[in-house]
Amino acid sequence: AIKEGQCVLLSESKTDGSFLIHHFLSFFLKAQCKVCFLGLVQSFSHYSTVGINMLQAREKGQLVFFEGLRNSLDMLLPESDASDAEPQPLSFLRWPSTDLRNLFDFVNSSLSQSENDMSRWASPVLLIDDLSVLLSLGVNPTAVLDFIHYCRMAVCSKQQGNMVTLVHNEDDLGDEDCDLVLHALTHQSSLILQVHGLNTGYCRDVHGQIQLRWKDKFQLKRDHTHVFQYKVHDKGVSFFAPGTSSAVL
Ligand SMILES: *[C@@H]1O[C@H](CO)[C@@H](O)[C@H](O)[C@H]1NC(C)=O
Repeated sequence: AIKEGQCVLLSESKTDGSFLIHHFLSFFLKAQCKVCFLGLVQSFSHYSTVGINMLQAREKGQLVFFEGLRNSLDMLLPESDASDAEPQPLSFLRWPSTDLRNLFDFVNSSLSQSENDMSRWASPVLLIDDLSVLLSLGVNPTAVLDFIHYCRMAVCSKQQGNMVTLVHNEDDLGDEDCDLVLHALTHQSSLILQVHGLNTGYCRDVHGQIQLRWKDKFQLKRDHTHVFQYKVHDKGVSFFAPGTSSAVL
């Protein structure tokens, strides 16, 4: 149960945590939330093949999908006839010194609800898959955190919506920028889901381990932590207590 106004952090390492993004996307679409999805990793058609009716949601105006792959090509290829009159959300690719202001403006205007929207949709949700792509593109971590800060203010504080951010992290590489961003997001999130590949390598019956951490807002109580193992299959994911799959015993 995620309360309105809260942030969720998903971190994946040595495994593919995209099933979590699919889970939250379908959860919020079913809850009739207005959703802005920054798909920086995969194309729209990739996400829409996982059994979520995204096309329909987009046609209804419930879902605004930002396709990072296509937009970054438009931005990088000088021949493309992307109109210069309109601010481009990924303009930072052409001018790396600039911040993520245009990307924020895109999020903010996608989720700013007109009165008509407000009667139709529940609170707004921002999903980001995945934030570390921005770091790989050379955006400085301070600019990434400023962007997150503005999004939190606009989506979570002002509109009592939710934000779900995936960060890919290879924890043994010692990537300082990524650590900095993860550390800051950990403080700002009330639910943290960390997925990790199995240390023993690939296993047919267990795909990895997931840790759920609910944080107490006022830090008065200790965090609630649960650990599960999971297996992803065609129709979804199954979770079980560590060691209870016959394959790992
Ligand atoms: C977000 O959008 C709303 C409505 O369009 C606008 O009033 C507000 O100033 C914007 N927020 C920021 C920080 O630009």
